Amino acid sequence: TRVGVMISGRGSNLQALLDAAARPDYPAEIALVLSNVAGVQGLARAKAAGVPTAVVPHRDFADRESFEREVTARLEAAGCTLVAQAGFMRVVTPWFVAHWRDRLINIHPSLLPAFPGLHTHERALQAGVRLHGCTVHFVRDEVDQGPIIGQAAVPVLPGDHPDDLSARVLTAEHLLYPRCLTLVAAGRTRIEAERVIHDAGAA
Ligand code: GRF
Repeated sequence: TRVGVMISGRGSNLQALLDAAARPDYPAEIALVLSNVAGVQGLARAKAAGVPTAVVPHRDFADRESFEREVTARLEAAGCTLVAQAGFMRVVTPWFVAHWRDRLINIHPSLLPAFPGLHTHERALQAGVRLHGCTVHFVRDEVDQGPIIGQAAVPVLPGDHPDDLSARVLTAEHLLYPRCLTLVAAGRTRIEAERVIHDAGAA
């Protein structure tokens, strides 16, 4: 499966996917890394891995959908049939979600449905939860919703600051995302009544 990864920044999750995809038995090939921001670290990571990159600055477009049509054209030109958002910081429109329906996944740094949106680590500390974590899910119209493919939990420890928690969650993200991408790329998930069914043999 040819996968396009959409990023906006640092790209540490992208790096985890690149590392996984470098293994010969991995069921996905990263065919394109697309960023809406030029010059970000994730683009350098892709280049270092020998993966083609594209920069599509959203500001060059009159509206979200025309931006997304260009993104889609680039992804399709690269032969991508599956798209993974990894720190992609733009909300996508219903048009994009419909076009890539059930072929578009995202990682979010909380145990959804808790804490959709931004600043999840601060909010988790504020709420006093004892477990926090990350979620990989199919993208739907509502931000940070959609059928859940996998989750990983980490403890919230006494004295944690948002940066501590963020680092602990990020380590979990780097394990979770390649695992979830494997399941989707290998066709080992299906969606029934907006819930993900993991086929026999899947983790
Ligand atoms: C991650 O925490 C991801 O879950 C969130 O944004 C962050 C991106 O980090 N959506 P990176 O660019 O993958 O390093």
